[in-house]
Amino acid sequence: MLNKLPSFPGIAGPVVVIVMDGYGLPKTELGSAIAAARKPTLDALFAQHPHITLRAHGTAVGMPSDEDMGNSEVGHNAIGAGQVYAQGAALVAGAIASGAIWQGAAWQQVVAGAKAGRGVLHLIGLFSDGNVHSHIDHLKALVLRARDEGVGAVRIHALLDGRDVPETSALDYLEPFEAFLGELQAAGFDARIASGGGRQVITMDRYDANWKMVEQGWHTHVLGRGEQFASASEAVRALRQRLPGTIDQDLPPFVIARDGAPVGTIEDGDAVVFYNFRGDRAIEITRAFEEGAGFDKFERVRVPAVTYAGMLQYDGDLKLPKRFLVDPPAIRDTMSEWFSKSGVAQFACSETQKFGHVTYFWNGNRSNKFAGETWQEVPSDVVPFEQRPWMKAAEITDAMIEAIRSGQYKVLRCNYANGDMVGHSGHFRAATMAIEAVDLALSRLLPAIEAAGGVALITADHGNADEMFELDKKTKQPAQNPDGSYKAKTAHTLNPVPLVLYDKATGGRLGLKALDGAGLSNIAATVANLIGLEKHAAWDDSLLEVR
Ligand code: 3PG
Ligand code: CO
Repeated sequence: MLNKLPSFPGIAGPVVVIVMDGYGLPKTELGSAIAAARKPTLDALFAQHPHITLRAHGTAVGMPSDEDMGNSEVGHNAIGAGQVYAQGAALVAGAIASGAIWQGAAWQQVVAGAKAGRGVLHLIGLFSDGNVHSHIDHLKALVLRARDEGVGAVRIHALLDGRDVPETSALDYLEPFEAFLGELQAAGFDARIASGGGRQVITMDRYDANWKMVEQGWHTHVLGRGEQFASASEAVRALRQRLPGTIDQDLPPFVIARDGAPVGTIEDGDAVVFYNFRGDRAIEITRAFEEGAGFDKFERVRVPAVTYAGMLQYDGDLKLPKRFLVDPPAIRDTMSEWFSKSGVAQFACSETQKFGHVTYFWNGNRSNKFAGETWQEVPSDVVPFEQRPWMKAAEITDAMIEAIRSGQYKVLRCNYANGDMVGHSGHFRAATMAIEAVDLALSRLLPAIEAAGGVALITADHGNADEMFELDKKTKQPAQNPDGSYKAKTAHTLNPVPLVLYDKATGGRLGLKALDGAGLSNIAATVANLIGLEKHAAWDDSLLEVR
């Protein structure tokens, strides 16, 4: 149990944490869909209620450096756990630097498995240096080590990014990588890219939103079915020419073949490493490889008997995958766990695309509920979100209002996906509408919180819609194309995020402290104090000020 706070009994009503995914605070208004949006509710919120800024990127959320942008995994982990853990990106880089990754049983089984079979190791994952799901340097280290340990052939299945990195940057990664593989080619060692495709088209679905993507990925990587090209860079060039305006994440799948035969189907006796460290988009393909005959998400046609490993363990409750190269962060003492132990009823809601963010990431990469938690998922549309920038903001709001009115919950949380999911499309106009949809949702949700005698903390996990144009690396200003237009940006930003305390319950007694270096990990303690409890000793400090 958390102790009672001696100085403040807590507010009478509920505390609602509202995450506006992808809502950062931009340095310049040019290119900010947030600045361009008409958002009277948010404007009034900032004008009338206490607010501070929080760090949401880099070391403040457990990334290796402050050059790393934030993302939903590390952001929701930090909010939910109230503490900062070294995250997958840092843990994998560290394990490679120290060599610990190669000493682990999992890697040794992968190498032994490949050697006992046809001598083939497959490496499947996101192909960029975005450092959100994966890093190309980790991929290179795996290729080199496989060679050094005498694995005869490596086949890479490259998921094109353009979502955590510039939207048409695939060739900037592919061309040097193909050259790198070319230099390694030697008697007894053969490394090639075998297949690939846009990450929003194949393999990297999340939260059971669209298993078709995983099925298509299986066909591409495992069965080697699909349009054939001589090399991955040739595939990208040809597909771009055929589909002008299509950005990397949306490029169709491709198979690399010689004389009509795919160079890297996955066969019995091969080893497979899924080299993403982040779990949400790695779980479904992992299930397809690991599950037996009971698997019913799609028809696999052929299920090769392989030695399968993930870069990390993606789900600590489901133990997925069974074999993994690097231990995940051991996230403990989350706010859900300790509120649960203190008898506080909790409610979590989002739409499919972010549902796991407010449940699984929030609870430290665990898929099981703690006692007294209720989770509600609103099914997301399966469309490119620039076509539906309002997404399910209205339905999430309906569910939240109902939960608040029920009087059953003391702490509630939700995530509005709009700023992030539409921000990732690079469509400026759609992104302004996304923010407007969130504003409209808040115009309904906040009065319901007030009516229940509650307060809200409104924040974000990282920026995205706040910077819709790529910045010039030198000037840090939006970069212009030769024709004067701006280069669309699809990735997250390095900007801080807001924390607003919406309090119409206490007549202005509550405020927020602008602690030096405060970040997302200070939210858990703040929520605890708002309900009249002391923070857990492991949590970063509360930002609540009681006057
Ligand atoms: C994605 O998976 O969509 C992006 O790589 C990161 O977005 P998220 O961290 O906001 O989910
Ligand atoms: Co995002």
